[in-house]
Amino acid sequence: QRHRIDPATIEYTSEKQKNAVQALIDEFTVSADLLKAIKDNFIKGMNKGLERDGETLAMIPSHVMGRLDGTESGSYLALDIGGTNLRVVSVHLSGHGPPVTYQTKYPIEERLKTGDAKALFDYMADKVGSFLDEQKIKVSPGTQIELGFTFSFPVLQTSINRGKLIKWTKGFSASGMVGKDPVAYLQDAFTRRHIPVRVAALVNDTVGTLLAHAYEHPDTAMGVILGTGCNGAYIERINKIKKWKDAKEDVAADEMIINMEFGAFDKERAILPLTMFDNKLDRKSVNPNSQILEKMIAGMYLGEITRNVLLNLVDRRLLFQGQISADLNQMWTFETAYMSAIEADASPTLHATRKILESTLNFQSTDKVDRQIVKLVVELVGRRAARLSAAAIAGVLEHTEGWKKKASIGIDGSLFEYYPSFDTDIMDGLVEVFGETVRTNISIGLAQDGSGVGAALCALLAAKHANGPLT
Ligand code: GLC
Repeated sequence: QRHRIDPATIEYTSEKQKNAVQALIDEFTVSADLLKAIKDNFIKGMNKGLERDGETLAMIPSHVMGRLDGTESGSYLALDIGGTNLRVVSVHLSGHGPPVTYQTKYPIEERLKTGDAKALFDYMADKVGSFLDEQKIKVSPGTQIELGFTFSFPVLQTSINRGKLIKWTKGFSASGMVGKDPVAYLQDAFTRRHIPVRVAALVNDTVGTLLAHAYEHPDTAMGVILGTGCNGAYIERINKIKKWKDAKEDVAADEMIINMEFGAFDKERAILPLTMFDNKLDRKSVNPNSQILEKMIAGMYLGEITRNVLLNLVDRRLLFQGQISADLNQMWTFETAYMSAIEADASPTLHATRKILESTLNFQSTDKVDRQIVKLVVELVGRRAARLSAAAIAGVLEHTEGWKKKASIGIDGSLFEYYPSFDTDIMDGLVEVFGETVRTNISIGLAQDGSGVGAALCALLAAKHANGPLT
């Protein structure tokens, strides 16, 4: 249930304030026509990326072929980096029913994200080592545990467990990694520590999410991440992957999962409705002129866009009587989690909104009109993100004609999980494109821990692939 503010009920204090808010509504609203135009442009980008390397949509062949049927079994480790935390997961697949997982999360300090790559990979290997100790996982001498490595950055894969980092995203910038193989770095760190682990598969989180969802919903056609970053993977027919040179040798399979890297969409700034607030965020980010769509959708950025809008209103003396708290004046202080709480605020006095502004962000006091405007801005930024996600998903569904039949889409990530009505906003967008049938055909579901389970499944598929033809 949505608790959105009706702009007509905002108790404006001046005409100027009202006009400024109306201008924001106009600027942040993605009309049905614009959504469709973005979707069309997105499909063109997909086709270009399938044709050759180096295009804006990287459309990376994952080297994962073959579908799952839920009877797969075995025990694997997964290591997941690319969200807020580093996670080590042990995954047990019994061949029936949901997988059993145990996981430990470890923080990744700023100095590791932005320091020297070797230190980052050494840290990861150390954490896997301590996880094995904690969980008392015994490895018989001379053997190794197979690990699926979810490394959620654009990696040009050359095999199921080899690849080259194209660029960092999401605030990472560890030096010496671009163009290098993350698996080689990790395996080397294990070897130096005598940790008996073999990196069997390199997986993007979207690919993992697709696989994990497919384990329980075999009709899964797409995996999406809406979390710290945003991206999607889908099942493509190999004959459409024009740039895939090995196609003829791979007689066993006719489909492959593609990691789209769709956060990079519209580097050209040709179609996305970028505002001055987006441009400011991009300019101040560690990766300017890159990941343009991601910066309008993902959880890492939505709070900062909102903050930029609020600052602008304050500077024009149209909000908080022109005063700002020292906290809100700092970059990145407006967390996307606050937006979820503000969206959900259903109290007439906007109590939850007040709590965040006054207790968390240290405003002395707030007027009701200020809280109303803050809530409206949050809603505008949040809904735009959901509708842009819908445009990308619609692009895939149209390209694959997936919307015409029954299919599932697995979505993971904190934004999708916790942001109120993100799912219904996405579905509404899809209905605008395809009509009501899409509501019955396509089911969108939370694929919790797609990355961990998916990495394990990928390690399993890698072994299966190495041992003979795919089923
Ligand atoms: C960024 C990464 C991509 C990942 C996404 C979601 O866009 O480049 O690989 O899938 O974030 O985590």
